[in-house]
Amino acid sequence: MAFSMTLRCNGISGLLTSSVCRFSPYNNSQNKCKFSVTENVSKTVPKNIKGKSKGSQEWLRRQLNDPYVKKAQSENYRCRSAYKLLEIDKRFNILKPGNTVIDCGAAPGSWCQVAVEKINKNSDLSSVNAGTVIGVDLQHFVDIEGVHVIGGADFTEKDTQSKIMEILNGKKADVILSDMAPKASGIKSMDHELIIELCVKVLKFGIEVLKPAGTILCKIWMGYNQKQLEDAMKHLFESVQVVKPLSSRTDSAEIFLLAQNFKKLKLK
Ligand SMILES: C[S@@+](CC[C@H](N)C(=O)[O-])C[C@H]1O[C@@H](n2cnc3c(N)ncnc32)[C@H](O)[C@@H]1O
Repeated sequence: MAFSMTLRCNGISGLLTSSVCRFSPYNNSQNKCKFSVTENVSKTVPKNIKGKSKGSQEWLRRQLNDPYVKKAQSENYRCRSAYKLLEIDKRFNILKPGNTVIDCGAAPGSWCQVAVEKINKNSDLSSVNAGTVIGVDLQHFVDIEGVHVIGGADFTEKDTQSKIMEILNGKKADVILSDMAPKASGIKSMDHELIIELCVKVLKFGIEVLKPAGTILCKIWMGYNQKQLEDAMKHLFESVQVVKPLSSRTDSAEIFLLAQNFKKLKLK
């Protein structure tokens, strides 16, 4: 299942042959949460789970008792993933007012919600200083005010990337986020290869569309090709760091690679 892909820019050639995130649940509803909860409540036992598979029962039990799920509901984020980006942004200040942000693997939309808040904190959405967020996902997801939603689209397809370019309309991006996760097969090495492959596509697209000094934040599942991906990123960015936010489950192999300060490249 190995794949290979070559990155060529400014004489740099990195061969990537090609880790684990549990998906956050999809919540395509825009319903506002009707309750708030404290974190130290006793464990909730799911009801009506007869007939559900063991995996589904376990998932439900975990969801019902996850403080970040509860927090996301009370703060109107579409899923708990919001806190991963909020934590990373708090620490590294990646989303700045007026920025142009591309969010790959955006559904159900919590990273878009965070991005649109952060980049517009000093301006309203109709102002000339408003930032731009483009959210792309294989899944269709409910619109978010201030976000260009491209649903039902595979980021890796040329057509999808052309749609992003059309929206950019000649502008370059400050930040590319990727929380993309392939459908996990459960075979760790295979899932690792697939997610690395997605990151390579993000990196290649980043070379085309990022502003100098731009940022890429991408999720991977740890595995044997992580180092090669990090090395390829180090050729392209001044700084590459591995980040594991507290809100990322400790039993998940997911980590985030944060590449900052995109170097000015002369493409061949
Ligand atoms: C963990 S979820 C993203 C959650 C999102 N960051 C949020 O906060 O709402 C991963 C998403 O990646 C999407 N995805 C996986 N492969 C993709 C691809 N090739 N193109 C676009 N989206 C993809 C999946 O459809 C899924 O919705």
